[in-house]
Amino acid sequence: MSEKTPFIKLENVFYSYESDDETVPLPPVLKNINLEIEKGTFVALLGHNGSGKSTLAKLINLILLPTEGRITIDGKDITASEALTEDEVYDVRRKIGMVFQNPDNQLVATVVEEDVAFGPENLGIEPSEIRKRVDDALETVGMSAYKKHSPHQLSGGQKQRIAIAGIIAMMPECIVFDESTAMLDPGGRKEVMNTIEKLNREMGITIILITHNMDEAIKADRVVVINDGVIYMDGTPKEVFSDVQRLRTVGLDVPQVTEVMYELHGMGMPVDYTELDEKKCADALAELLRKKPG
Ligand SMILES: Nc1ncnc2c1ncn2[C@@H]1O[C@H](COP(=O)(O)OP(=O)(O)O)[C@@H](O)[C@H]1O
Ligand SMILES: [Mg+2]
Repeated sequence: MSEKTPFIKLENVFYSYESDDETVPLPPVLKNINLEIEKGTFVALLGHNGSGKSTLAKLINLILLPTEGRITIDGKDITASEALTEDEVYDVRRKIGMVFQNPDNQLVATVVEEDVAFGPENLGIEPSEIRKRVDDALETVGMSAYKKHSPHQLSGGQKQRIAIAGIIAMMPECIVFDESTAMLDPGGRKEVMNTIEKLNREMGITIILITHNMDEAIKADRVVVINDGVIYMDGTPKEVFSDVQRLRTVGLDVPQVTEVMYELHGMGMPVDYTELDEKKCADALAELLRKKPG
């Protein structure tokens, strides 16, 4: 067995928000979370509103510190009793980028290329290197043609790709997308999802994708479901989505393809509802219809 240290490791992590009234502490919103994420993995994080997904994302990015438990990022214990220096905090934040839901809140400059340069400028990187990173990042997200444009004239999907370019110009090892497709139209979602898959498959960036869209989640290597502050399911998309009942018990959806195949299976048709590939399902159904007598 290989002794790989996971890139992100949470051990017995609890988190409670501070109460306005100090005499009444708020109950923990994350309860005994144990989670390891290997470098280069694409993880989808699912769960209802209020289940603790964004809190978990903020813990990983050192925006919040756990109330209890240990978090290690790239081998560094960020919850060690001796406080981290400012440089160490900075270093962890730089390793883990975050892209949020509303693209309009993430764009700071009036020209696309200046916006993308903002992050690396803050890191104190020299101008020639910034120039290169900005060009590469815009190329990666397919927005080079827009570098002199104003971000405000762009579509939602394009704005989100600019926000992503701004993050990748800082060369993070992991990017957390906190419902970054939720406000986009179907075309915009697709653009952003294609970009996310490319960052993972071609650049090896670790991805944590928080989403309510199960058809996006099936693109991941691993699906983690969090419910009421605890890890409720954790497995490959095939493992998680084939347990339709367990997901429905907590009111979560399944991907469209699973939905259809599961219904047909329930009607007694000999179909495999654990198959997530739409093309294979369509072929299986066509085959079944061909065989059907009459
Ligand atoms: N700043 C805060 N103060 C107090 N409670 C909060 C705060 N932010 C979130 N919460 C509560 O923590 C729980 C988890 O929230 P959150 O992590 O945002 O969930 P999700 O991202 O899954 O919707 C919810 O019950 C929410 O109301
Ligand atoms: Mg959230």
